[in-house]
Amino acid sequence: MESINRLRGERQAVILAHNYQPPEIQDLADFVGDSLGLARQAAETEARTVVFCGVHFMAETSAILNPDKVTLLPEPGAGCPLADTVTPEGIRTLRKLHPEAVVVTYVNSTAAVKAESDYCCTSGNAVQVVRSIEAPEIIFTPDGNLGRYVQKVTGRKLIIWEGCCPIHDGIRAGDVRRLKEEHPGALVIAHPECRPEVLELADEVASTSGMFRVVEESGREEFIILTESGMGYPLSKRFPGRRFHFPSTEPFCPDMKVITLEKVERSLREMEPRITVPEETRVRALRAVERMLSIG
Ligand code: 13P
Repeated sequence: MESINRLRGERQAVILAHNYQPPEIQDLADFVGDSLGLARQAAETEARTVVFCGVHFMAETSAILNPDKVTLLPEPGAGCPLADTVTPEGIRTLRKLHPEAVVVTYVNSTAAVKAESDYCCTSGNAVQVVRSIEAPEIIFTPDGNLGRYVQKVTGRKLIIWEGCCPIHDGIRAGDVRRLKEEHPGALVIAHPECRPEVLELADEVASTSGMFRVVEESGREEFIILTESGMGYPLSKRFPGRRFHFPSTEPFCPDMKVITLEKVERSLREMEPRITVPEETRVRALRAVERMLSIG
């Protein structure tokens, strides 16, 4: 820890961590947040080095925004199965079928896919991004559950790519009903990557950081949280007196747990592994990412 702090100073580094990261990584970070908050921090930081404790697409978003900085991902194998469901060719094929359509791509996607898209969005601003678009047709990729949620809230008919996050998609309505019976006083907060029948059972739908706001404003004591169970740590840290229940299957994202203090120390010492994006791709992807940052 001491050597990380020394290196953090020497490298003029900022350490950003997602809400699902292991507790010791969250405690180390300068900022912990959801995808939108982390992208905003990456866009605004004056640090020379960004250490991204999250998954590959998040570090890539930082690299898209910061070509003059070094973006480090302490474990480059940290991927996102949802991001892997869509390819640039897939987007080009859909565009041929719907030449008038605007393409909105969830931030859980590769830089090459963002480069083929008109807008990026996160779970925190997907509704606002879609509402801001006037075009008659919108293609929404790659999360089908998020697309259906946005479609329902906005009343806009979307052309939806059928990808999903296996962790959120694995949360079942039967399990949620049982939890509600066990904890009848609990407020149910779900991530919009959950299935429609699960979202139907929720009182509130929010991004991971949006969940803090819902808990704060609710004034309630007990909550059922429908997302990756790593959220239990930052929620309990911020609201020590309140009770948070997760599905009995304990939704777990292995990719979010592969970064360790040792890997952070090594990456700061060696200034590797670096995440870079080819300039031609970066410039095209930047347009979609900047639109995402400017909305919501
Ligand atoms: P948030 O942006 O809500 O933190 O979601 C990130 C994510 O990848 C959820 O699976």
